Amino acid sequence: MVNLTEHKFFTESDKLALGWFWRNYLKSKMIWLFLILGMTAAQGYVYREFLKLTESGMRIVFERGTLQDLFEICAMVTGIFLFRGVVSYLTPRIATWIANDAVQRMRDDMVAKYLSLDLAHFDKAKSGDVILRLVQQADGLSSFVGQQTVKALRDAATILILSTYLIYKEPFLFAGVVFVVPFVLFGLRRVSKRIKEIQQSAEAVMGDFINGIEEMTNGMRTIRISGQEEMEKRRLATSTKGIRTLNIRLQAAQALSLPWMDFAAAVAFSMVIGGGGYMVLSPEYETDGASIIAFLIGLVLVFDPARRASSYFVALQAALILFRSIHTLMLETPEIVDTPNSVAELDGEGDIVFRDVSFSYETNHPLLHNLNLVFRGGRTTAIVGSTGSGKTTILSLLARLYEPQSGEITFDGRPLCEYKLETLRGIYSVVSQDIVIFNRSIFDNVKYVKPEASDQEVFDAAEAADILSLMEERGSAPVGPKGAQLSGGQKQRIGIARAFLQNKPVVILDEATSALDQKTEDRIRGAMEGLMKGRTSIVIAHRLSTVTQADLIYVLEHGKLIEQGNHSQLLAQKGLYASMYNAQQQGYQK
Ligand SMILES: Nc1ncnc2c1ncn2[C@@H]1O[C@H](COP(=O)(O)OP(=O)(O)O)[C@@H](O)[C@H]1O
Ligand SMILES: [Mg+2]
Repeated sequence: MVNLTEHKFFTESDKLALGWFWRNYLKSKMIWLFLILGMTAAQGYVYREFLKLTESGMRIVFERGTLQDLFEICAMVTGIFLFRGVVSYLTPRIATWIANDAVQRMRDDMVAKYLSLDLAHFDKAKSGDVILRLVQQADGLSSFVGQQTVKALRDAATILILSTYLIYKEPFLFAGVVFVVPFVLFGLRRVSKRIKEIQQSAEAVMGDFINGIEEMTNGMRTIRISGQEEMEKRRLATSTKGIRTLNIRLQAAQALSLPWMDFAAAVAFSMVIGGGGYMVLSPEYETDGASIIAFLIGLVLVFDPARRASSYFVALQAALILFRSIHTLMLETPEIVDTPNSVAELDGEGDIVFRDVSFSYETNHPLLHNLNLVFRGGRTTAIVGSTGSGKTTILSLLARLYEPQSGEITFDGRPLCEYKLETLRGIYSVVSQDIVIFNRSIFDNVKYVKPEASDQEVFDAAEAADILSLMEERGSAPVGPKGAQLSGGQKQRIGIARAFLQNKPVVILDEATSALDQKTEDRIRGAMEGLMKGRTSIVIAHRLSTVTQADLIYVLEHGKLIEQGNHSQLLAQKGLYASMYNAQQQGYQK
């Protein structure tokens, strides 16, 4: 006897993933599922009746009964198969509805999950994997649950009902046939392990491929300018080749289940013809020809669904990989969340204080060291420093996109983590270094941050950010994916217009004017000052001319605070700030 325990068909995590899917997406449709079960049983039942009718029909022929009887049987056979036809039409319709409904809810949950995970998750996650899960794996599960599984249920019902009938009719013959079952299981077990392995690699390769496509489309400009088309082709060809190879291997492995079934069928059929024939010929048994023929037809009717069930079993092994992949995602939990007693009140006019804050993205690469900073309410504070010194990171900590490893950040005297995230993030308008532009009109792009704003508000904001004339010129024309049809300076002005529209108590400008030419910057300087006036403002810049008016300037180097003071104090200190400032002044005068 084969030892079936050494390789498990279902691992522990398979079971958890299946249980999760069942509880969340199928259980509520229990009544419909019972209906489907009933309908699949009805289909099996039709086969059984067919067998019975065939046997009686043949007996009429063998024993020279009336034509009238024969006709009745034919009519009944037609009738039950018509019934089966109707049921076969209804079952997949209900099943597809259940499956698509389940997968839609699952997809929505996945989207919600992605939107809830910490930003740190996306520093490492490949976007290809995100798309793969949401698009392809979810789709795969939909057809697996809605089509393959339901067909398999029908097959299982048929096998069960017919086998019971065959056992009842010819227990001896059936006992002989059962001998092939362990043989089939042995074959399937070997196949299932391979399928899981191949499917796992196929998912990884597909994820890489989607990632590659995304990078290619996003990087089209760079690829063309630097003439890297051939390199891109080769890079993506690695994925396409991988997908081809793995798909062929997967199909080959899946097909491997069929020879086992066919060989088992051959053994079973010859046993019935041989054994059954002997029983008919031998006077010891009462079996007649009609019952053996009916048994043989019954066996054919069992083997056909059994063959399909074995393919289903193989498909299940592949689907388990998808179930697990999605379940793994759903098990992830964000660390930055609201605490039970977090408060929703925050007026946004208080001081923001960093006390001994240390932070690193990777555990062994410390970035910010014991920072002590104060951003006074209603004042303008600037942070300057070379690129990579950690300026943007400070802003990420302010919005609690990341959590410091040690030290404390307080807003109005209360640690950030005691405010509701929604409240906290609702305090800031941020004009960041890389402004996200959608493929819509400029008007819609500005309005994006405040959908409830009136048209007039949007126009005013656009005017303040010096983008109104362009907005009117382009009208409703979309600006291309990621604003491809706009210049860097135009995108920044959209970002600034958004900040005007948002009108939040704290304004954060992260290199907000770095892509503007001096003339445009001078033109909107007044507007920018208007934006910051009376608000707590944090300005980050490496072009120091933009921060000279700040009440306090922090100079950051390699995550450490090295100087602080206002413009004239810092110049008098003759430190890093003074030398940077003088160097830049000379640069502009050239
Ligand atoms: N999400 C991230 N994961 C890992 N490292 C990061 C991440 N973001 C930034 N860094 C690193 O942290 C350092 C500071 O980045 P950043 O705060 O953006 O600098 P700045 O805004 O001063 O130019 C850089 O060395 C950068 O490579
Ligand atoms: Mg930065």
